[in-house]
Amino acid sequence: MTDKHYLTFALGKGRLANKTLELFEEIGITCEEMKDKNSRKLIFVNEELKLRFFLAKGPDVPTYVEYGAADIGVVGRDTILEENRNVYEVLDLGFGKCRMCVCGPASAAELLQHHERIRVASKYPNIAKDYFYNKKHQTVDIIKLNGSVELGPLVELSDVIVDIVETGSTLRENGLDVLEEVCPLSARMIVNPVSMQMDSERIRSLVSRIREQLAEHDRSK
Ligand code: PRP
Repeated sequence: MTDKHYLTFALGKGRLANKTLELFEEIGITCEEMKDKNSRKLIFVNEELKLRFFLAKGPDVPTYVEYGAADIGVVGRDTILEENRNVYEVLDLGFGKCRMCVCGPASAAELLQHHERIRVASKYPNIAKDYFYNKKHQTVDIIKLNGSVELGPLVELSDVIVDIVETGSTLRENGLDVLEEVCPLSARMIVNPVSMQMDSERIRSLVSRIREQLAEHDRSK
């Protein structure tokens, strides 16, 4: 008889969590409780497989994983970079693909060439800081916003923004362009370093099953 304890997953609420659950279902990991959209429950359990799931705000997922409140998390690479927590990134899940970019009006492109002290608005101040200070060696003023960041240059709060570009339609509809690409993004699986050691076999086997399933997706494309 095995006395397995629960493996706990923190999933970033919304599209990423739905995509993750679809992927888990394909490898036989289901959580029926979670499908009830009217439920106000916060933690969902699969007793048979000894798995627990909870949904959290994206930026909180690395926090739960770092402290070991969740063994495994699924969240966008943007959040992982911004939060900079002590977690292992073990797998690129391939969905939620988009790019972190410096954007602005075409006229702002020049401001990025001459190390001028410009204003940069972003929901991701740490990513913006790292890009401008460490990669471009350009001193800038970073202004933290919480959403609708494209407003920054439109109302002259900032010269440029650092933000996620997926289809590019928000930029197009507001007369803004991608000026530079910071990095590509997608959903990633992260693991608590202690869990990775203590539950190594279970976690490695799960990761390899998911990896195989993703390869299967690629083959059937
Ligand atoms: C994100 C991002 C961009 C937009 C990019 O915002 O911050 O604004 O999506 O997508 P697109 O290239 O397909 O237009 P989100 O919708 O999450 O809302 P927010 O602006 O409030 O952060």
